[in-house]
Amino acid sequence: MLEDLKALTKTALDKLHAAGRADLDAIQAAYLGKKGKLQEVLRSIGSLPARERGPVGQAANLAKRAIEAALVDRRAALIEEAESALGDTEWVDATLPVAALGMTQGDRRGGTIHPITNLVREVEDVFLSMGFETLDGPWVEDDQHNFGALNIPADHPARDLHDTYWLNDGNLLRTHTSPVQVRAMETNEPPIRAVCLGRVFRHEELDATHENTFHQVEGFYVDREVSVAHMLYVLRTLLSEILQDDVQVRLRPSYFPFVEPGFEMDVTFRGEWLELLGCGIVHPAVLEAGGIDSSRWSGFAFGLGLDRLVMLRHGVEDVRHFMSGDLRFLQQFAGGVEG
Ligand code: DAH
Repeated sequence: MLEDLKALTKTALDKLHAAGRADLDAIQAAYLGKKGKLQEVLRSIGSLPARERGPVGQAANLAKRAIEAALVDRRAALIEEAESALGDTEWVDATLPVAALGMTQGDRRGGTIHPITNLVREVEDVFLSMGFETLDGPWVEDDQHNFGALNIPADHPARDLHDTYWLNDGNLLRTHTSPVQVRAMETNEPPIRAVCLGRVFRHEELDATHENTFHQVEGFYVDREVSVAHMLYVLRTLLSEILQDDVQVRLRPSYFPFVEPGFEMDVTFRGEWLELLGCGIVHPAVLEAGGIDSSRWSGFAFGLGLDRLVMLRHGVEDVRHFMSGDLRFLQQFAGGVEG
């Protein structure tokens, strides 16, 4: 009997060793199952002479454990083998033309780059080429970064211009990208040259020229003895690049709490002067709020809406198209498709 058990165990282990994943269940049933070979042995123990029962019982249990262990090992080894082979069998060359990937004409409609995203990328490129870095900031801001540190204290009338979405916890959806200035100053030592492009939110009555979600670029430059001349150079370069023209610009005095002096900049576009952006020399109080010594450093800053520029560029008549998700609108910009 003991010899039989040994032989049975050996056959089971050999079979397992050679088994594929599909064979494992059958082998398990044949040896360990209710009607399996080991169960047969255990059942026959009762009819053995008393002194043989103990050793045969023990040997049967050992055999059972050995087979169970081999089964677990084999299963794990097969899974590992299959997974490590995945890299050879299941991959896609994403650089192949769609046709070669077996897609049909119907699948090939593809996506288009959103016209705002396109402009964002262009503006970023212009600034990167001038040595600026791009920064991100949170959409959910606190009062201090969106207003306080920008020289707009709680009772300041400029707050009324920003129809703010307040959140229940006292935070808000940023109403402009200017808070990123403050965050950059808090975490960087001057000189700082950075732009932030992103979404901003205002509680507006919606119409063809007002959206509650729109896009701005904020730029700022903090260094020694920064002047309006530096600002003019950078902005004219930006506008010439994105309007694809050797544009003229002019400054008109204006008021923004975070700059002094503050200006609005106009630019020539298709023969007309266009009011385009706000800018100025960073107010000393803003530098100080950002932890920068205003007696040693100065800077310029500007803010510009992107949606209106895209509208001008493509003749879009209603700003609400941008966030509508309407594919008929977006497919018109298929010229920007990549890939
Ligand atoms: N944050 C202003 C807005 O949303 C735009 C702006 C104006 C930004 C002047 C500036 C600036 O940095 O100097 O209306």
